Amino acid sequence: MPTALTDLCRHPIVQAPMAGGASGPELAAAVCQAGGFGFLAAGYKTADGMYQEIKQLRALTDRPFGVNLFMPQPSLADTSAVEVYREQLAGEAAWYETELGDIDGPSDDGYEAKLAILRDDPVPVVSFTFGCPSRAVFDAFAKVGTYTVVTVTTAAEAQAAQWSGADVVCVQGVEAGGHQSTHRDDPHADGTGAGLGLLALLAQVRETVQIPVIAAGGLMRGAQIAAVLAAGASMAQLGTAFLVTPESGANPLHKQALTNPLFTHTELTRAFSGRPARGLVNRFLREHGPYAPAAYPAVHYLTSTVRKAAAKAGDAQGMNLWAGQGHRLAREMPAGRLVEVLMAELDAARAALGQDRGAAEPDVTGGAA
Ligand SMILES: Cc1cc2nc3c(=O)[nH]c(=O)nc-3n(C[C@H](O)[C@H](O)[C@H](O)COP(=O)(O)O)c2cc1C
Repeated sequence: MPTALTDLCRHPIVQAPMAGGASGPELAAAVCQAGGFGFLAAGYKTADGMYQEIKQLRALTDRPFGVNLFMPQPSLADTSAVEVYREQLAGEAAWYETELGDIDGPSDDGYEAKLAILRDDPVPVVSFTFGCPSRAVFDAFAKVGTYTVVTVTTAAEAQAAQWSGADVVCVQGVEAGGHQSTHRDDPHADGTGAGLGLLALLAQVRETVQIPVIAAGGLMRGAQIAAVLAAGASMAQLGTAFLVTPESGANPLHKQALTNPLFTHTELTRAFSGRPARGLVNRFLREHGPYAPAAYPAVHYLTSTVRKAAAKAGDAQGMNLWAGQGHRLAREMPAGRLVEVLMAELDAARAALGQDRGAAEPDVTGGAA
């Protein structure tokens, strides 16, 4: 039987999987070695690419770690909206002297091949994003002793994950950097304010499911981790906080932008990938976000050449700069040190809470004692 997630590491700190190169073996190993829980991101990788990273991570640490998979997405019935977007992006391609990408990349992200590898050579934890696998998948992982996590953005998604057989849900608030892990992408929800903040969502999920919960979204300091643990989470998952560490494989322009005062805020956008994702507001997001179609991953492939060319040209205004709402609080320090600092802050917050409570304890004796 799988062990509880909290038994797999010393500290209640999870380093978020971050597809696109940020969370490779080096970052995950540093976090695991420091007593946190590290994740590899298999999204956008081939099954073999994922397996190579697993082997590299095993060579760097003997601590437990996780692998994150993207759930396959329904294929596009109609690509005309993407073709319109292609025309709208023509100026970008010309500016960066490249062609727009071919939209016929794999929509299933090598899901079955990745599952087969993870069943044949099990890892301690597998997490799923953009949907919930079938009960058969959970049963197969339980059989090989792998603990399973499903990322959720609503209480209903959490309930579906529990019913299907997930061991844990990762509750992702709307503050979170990168893609929202919504199970069914609904363009009608865009701009409606339907996405819940972490503390509001966490309370709902805690009252809906019985399985343990990981909390993610906007967490940058130990005191915030104390808050989500007090609100019923078993662990806190941080992405943006780890993006700026030297072990993160994020592009240096991306790392610099996170704390550059030029980038004042983040927004959810479909501009780069076709699915809502939170990034720093830059020129590309501002110009194309308003009309980008709901067409993931076609738009991801369409814009990939432009994003790469912008990075090569050293132009952060044409790149996807994923970031959570807390980005200005990012601290550039080694990942292991960041785990230590967060733990010291968490301990201080817990101590402060205990002291205040002691000082403010009401006189229940009515003054008779
Ligand atoms: C650059 C980047 C890439 C991400 N890629 C993934 C991913 O591949 N899989 C996933 O489940 N979540 C991914 N996320 C979301 C994180 O798991 C997590 O929900 C988020 O980072 C938490 O919010 P924070 O960034 O404010 O800490 C990504 C986030 C960032 C910033």
